[in-house]
Parts: sequence; structure tokens; C-alpha cells
Amino acid sequence: MRPSLIPMPREIEYTGGKSILRADAPVTVTYAPELPEEAYELKIEDGKVTVSASSEAGEFYARRTLEQIIRTCGEECDDLVIRDAPVLSYRGFLVDSCRHFYGAEELKRLIDTAARFKLNKFHWHLTDDQGWRIEIKRYPLLTEVGSVRAGSRFGGVDEGGPYGGFFTQEQIKEIVAYCAARQIEVVPEIEMPGHFTAALSAYPFLGCTGKQIEPMQREGVFPNVLCVGNEDAVAFVKNVLDEVCGLLPGKYIHIGGDEAPRTRWCRCEKCAARMRRQGIRNYDALQGSFIKEISAFLKERGKTAITWNESLKGGVLSPDDVLVQRWMDRKKLCPAFTRAGGKLIEADFYHYYFDYPYGMTPLKKAFDYDPYSKSGADGVFGVEGALWTEFVRTFDDLCEKLFPRLLAVAERGWSGFPTRDYYDFRAAAIVLLPLLKENGIPTLSPFRWDPRSRRREIADFFKGSLSPGSIREMMESRK
Ligand code: ACM
Ligand code: ZN
Repeated sequence: MRPSLIPMPREIEYTGGKSILRADAPVTVTYAPELPEEAYELKIEDGKVTVSASSEAGEFYARRTLEQIIRTCGEECDDLVIRDAPVLSYRGFLVDSCRHFYGAEELKRLIDTAARFKLNKFHWHLTDDQGWRIEIKRYPLLTEVGSVRAGSRFGGVDEGGPYGGFFTQEQIKEIVAYCAARQIEVVPEIEMPGHFTAALSAYPFLGCTGKQIEPMQREGVFPNVLCVGNEDAVAFVKNVLDEVCGLLPGKYIHIGGDEAPRTRWCRCEKCAARMRRQGIRNYDALQGSFIKEISAFLKERGKTAITWNESLKGGVLSPDDVLVQRWMDRKKLCPAFTRAGGKLIEADFYHYYFDYPYGMTPLKKAFDYDPYSKSGADGVFGVEGALWTEFVRTFDDLCEKLFPRLLAVAERGWSGFPTRDYYDFRAAAIVLLPLLKENGIPTLSPFRWDPRSRRREIADFFKGSLSPGSIREMMESRK
């Protein structure tokens, strides 16, 4: 029998024989220094399994492929040789721990499942308007005050309250180690200068007005941003990042940079003074100069900053400063950035935002999306599927939204585009569902992966999820 595999390997050669393989079939691993970092060769012949790889990562991926082979062929498998390597070295998934909070045990289930499909970056969204979720020892109020909101009213639905939670540094280390054992690097996101209400609730001096505010209880884009003209406030976020750099050993730190209204900056003396000092003419450039300063600070610590595409607006950032994560702006600044040699992480809102219903982003739409089409393989550094949690009120819902759509991202990141017909991929996803179940990941019935009545699902989602005011606000903020 021939296996069903996700992601599709680069090369499979069937060599004619058949092997009986049990789940615990012994594997002989040989070191092959000539192979690239994540590449591997897997051979099944005469009931024996051999793996060649130059690194633990390659061996890990060979074992993931073998796991799928055994799972989908039963015990009788056509002999084969697979020679495989990824197209992209950044294959990510984002989980928003701020709007709704799921703990370490639940995250581990997601991480385990992502690893089975060779994803290798866990983008962990840890701070936002509705909660600060990472312990920072130097500034304990960030979690003592900023991790608890009085209630939750996403989409106008009263979920009661108070609502809170955060990860201690010990728990963060535990997740980092759990990921590392599965070849996954954690990419923490510490949002700035926008989506900053929770930080301001703990330390009001960080804002332009200094007024006391509380963590937000609903979805949206809020004016409570960092005062980038206040040197003490900028020093504060650098101190936070310093601690984050020490805690998370990975190369990348995401610093947000999306959806930061200018309302407060427009009326702030300190922000105006920074603009005068630096000869900055507009607020987009003010944000650009701030992101540039923070990215330089991270570079000194051996890290690379990632920022959402909005930060390109000021025309300040160069390809040497940052990696850009693109969720919008397919036509203008992002393509210009890649033409200048910049690199993007593709997380297209219309295809890779999995918090929206299948009616809006069916599995086929996610799978058929070519993330390389605008920027070419040279401009695309990574791909990522995103799971924001404003309207994800249970962990089961989170799982059903993320999987199997995240497998489409896994295939694009590992195997490139195009790979195969959608219906081949879908059939493989169905055959591999037991692997998800084993990790405690519920999924919707495959009949619901590509709903016929997309309009109804979309209407139901917007009716049940968004308060009328916030629909307009959201659409405007996503322009
Ligand atoms: C985003 O969805 N605001 C990055
Ligand atoms: Zn200010």
C-alpha cells in the first residue's frame, strides 16, 4: 500500500518490494553531513527502515514521515525511498493567548500536532489590549494588574468575569523545552506600540496621557498606545524585551507594529518633541522610527525583530532592520519591500486567518492559495497560519478552526507551490485524522471543511461574534 502524507515530500521512489512494518519498527539512523539542516532520506526495504540526516531536525522529520506511513499503510507498506527537504525554514502557527487564554496543557496538544506536520515556529501572541500573559519579573504589575480584565464582552456576548491568566517564567521555559524537543522554536510576540492597553493598565505612565485605564473587555482597535516620545516608556519596553530575550532562546522576537491609532500621539508634547528631534514629518514615520530603534536594540542582543506589515508605512524600515509579517497589503509596500531585498512571513488574512469560519476560508481556499505568487520564493521567508481568539470561547472550537486548515500551511511551507490536486490533499487529511485525535484535537466533519452555503456561515459568524459597532471598526482597521 502507498502512504498518504502531509506535507508532500519532495521525492518518493517506490522500489517494488513490500514490507511488513509495525508501529515500533526499529529504525537505523546514519549521519549524512552532506544533507542540509532539515533534510532527510528515509528508506523502507525488506522490513527495515533506514534514515539518513545531518541533524536531529532531519531525523525528527524522517520519523514524522514514518509515523504517517505506518498510520496510513497499516502494516503492509510498499518499499520506498523518500528524499525530502523543506522549501522554507520558517513554517509557523500563531496562537493568541490574550483574548481567550488556554493553558500549557492545551498548548502542548497544539504543539504536538503542529510538529507532526513539520511546522517549526510557534508564534505566541502574549500581550494585547485584553491581557498581558507573560510574567516579567522586573515589572510584576504587568501580570498582577494587566492579566485580569473585569469581564469579557466579545461580540457583545457577556461571558461574565473577571477573566485572567498568565504564564509564569517557569511555564514559559517548560513550553520552550517542549517545543525544542519537537524542533519548534518559540517566537514570542510582545505587541507595541499599539494593542497596549493591558500594559497601560499596569503602568499608566507608559501612555501619552498617563491616565489610569483597565484592560479591554471586547474586540477592537484601541487608542491606548505606548508614548514613543517618552524616553522612560521606551526604556521600559526595552527592559521588558531584555528579559524576554533572556527567557526565550530563539532568534526571533515579534514586536507587533500593527493597528496603532495615532489619536494620542497627535496631542502629545513628548511625541511631538521626538518628531522634531528626529526631523520626522508624520505619524507613520514616527512608528517606523520607533520600530527601527527597537529592532536595533534586539539586533544588539543577537535577535531578529519581526513586525506586522503596517510598520512599513512610514518608509523608515529597511530589509536589514526587520522581517515583515504580511497579513494585509498584498499590492503595495510589501512587494516593494521584497523588491528591495526584504523578507516576508506570509499570513494572508483572506487565506491563513483561521479564526474565521470555514464558510469564509474553506480548506480548499487555504490550500489553493499560493503564498509565493506576489513576492516569489526569494521574498518569502516563511508562512504562518493564525488563530486569534476574540471569538474562540472553547478549546474545542480553537482546535476545529485551526485543524485541518493549518495542514494547508504546513504543506505550502514545506513543499512549496504547487504540490498536488486539492482532493488528494483532502483525502490525505482524512486518512491522517487519527493522528490529530490521538493528540486530543477534535475536528469538524470533513463535510464542513468546504461548506456549500458559505454565505450563511459567514452571516451566522458575524451575527454571533461581532457587536454592530465593532463590525465597522474591524473592517476599517483591516483596510
Ligand atoms: C493583525 O491581525 N492585526 C495582525
Ligand atoms: Zn506620546
